Amino acid sequence: MDVISVIRTKRDRGELSPEQIDWVIDAYTRGVVADEQMSALAMAILLNGMNRTEIARWTAAMIASGERMNFDSLSRPTADKHSTGGVGDKITLPLAPLVAACGAAVPQLSGRGLGHTGGTLDKLESIPGWRALLSNEEMLNVLDTTGAVICAAGDGLAPADKKLYALRDVTGTVEAIPLIASSIMSKKIAEGTGSLVLDVKVGTGAFMKNIEDARELASTMVALGTDSGVKTVALLTDMSTPLGLTAGNALEVRESVEVLAGGGPADVVELTIALAREMLDAAGIKDADPAKALADGSAMDVWRRMIAAQGGDPDATLPVAREQHVITAPSSGVLTRLDAYDIGVAAWRLGAGRARKEDPVQAGAGVELHAKPGDTVTAGQPLLTLHTDTPEKFEYALESVAGSYDVAPAGTAFTATPIVRERIA
Ligand code: URA
Repeated sequence: MDVISVIRTKRDRGELSPEQIDWVIDAYTRGVVADEQMSALAMAILLNGMNRTEIARWTAAMIASGERMNFDSLSRPTADKHSTGGVGDKITLPLAPLVAACGAAVPQLSGRGLGHTGGTLDKLESIPGWRALLSNEEMLNVLDTTGAVICAAGDGLAPADKKLYALRDVTGTVEAIPLIASSIMSKKIAEGTGSLVLDVKVGTGAFMKNIEDARELASTMVALGTDSGVKTVALLTDMSTPLGLTAGNALEVRESVEVLAGGGPADVVELTIALAREMLDAAGIKDADPAKALADGSAMDVWRRMIAAQGGDPDATLPVAREQHVITAPSSGVLTRLDAYDIGVAAWRLGAGRARKEDPVQAGAGVELHAKPGDTVTAGQPLLTLHTDTPEKFEYALESVAGSYDVAPAGTAFTATPIVRERIA
């Protein structure tokens, strides 16, 4: 087997054989295939695609590159959720304790933000003391004692994906549907969850900009999960505007705690409950009511125990950025558009995200929204507040925000896009 013939096969729109796939993933993980060779293959896959048979084999090879976890010792059924990434997508924070409060065990292996999309671990690390890195034993212990755990995937889980994802990130090859599907599903299947709900984002702030691509990604992942014995369902959800009223690490933790306290923005509450219902259904838990568990404080109790079990202080004051800059509405009327991608880029430029994997993030940085599409606004009222510790970043963030919104004359008709657009099972 040689790597050049594998690259040529895909470059010339051929089908990769199972042997070629197994060999190239294993050889790349071991460092026998070089980064420049794998990036050529990733680009050929992005341009020419892979069929379902190739994707299933690619996923299996990535799973086989590392260890498989097992939650059979738990007394509760396991349910996990994965989002394909968005702006203001803090849903995992209230969702994991909520679903645990309703009777499932929620092993949530999460990632960090890169580019304009935020990462769950970066958000939680704004809580003083909280630790993302747990050993497999610690993870199982937190899961067993609190019902939920949110932590980083260990180095042993799908190491081929870890290496390939970092490479794709710097070679313009993230957006390939076969590579996204196999990347996400290899980690979820190796993790050993019994059921999985996928939140496939669609819109300007998502990797999938249109509904057709989101459908293809969702159905590919549902098939991969189902074929591996994981009960898998996908919701296609709107990411044309940020979720909730915040994009940024500590800002989003604060908003998540509001949701757990029974308040918070309506779209965050709606999506949290919709995903919780799907997770409970997939886990076979029929008689729980997630709306009640939010209202009666039982989800908040799990949150507090889960944060404390990972070294965090749930009562600590969250970091606040040193500098703020307010953007006001240019005219009175109806806010008809507030673009998720532009706001995500602004939050990233303010310091909430990182340009390279090893960069630190600012806990307090980000963007706060004072209005959502469909709201009536008055000229001069605050529309957005930008937060950062490094005010020299304002100018660069303002460039991204400049074209991010439209205010139409009062009375202009506005039709909201539903949060949950489709369900694929
Ligand atoms: N999230 C992942 O884990 N992998 C991808 O390829 C894209 C999003």
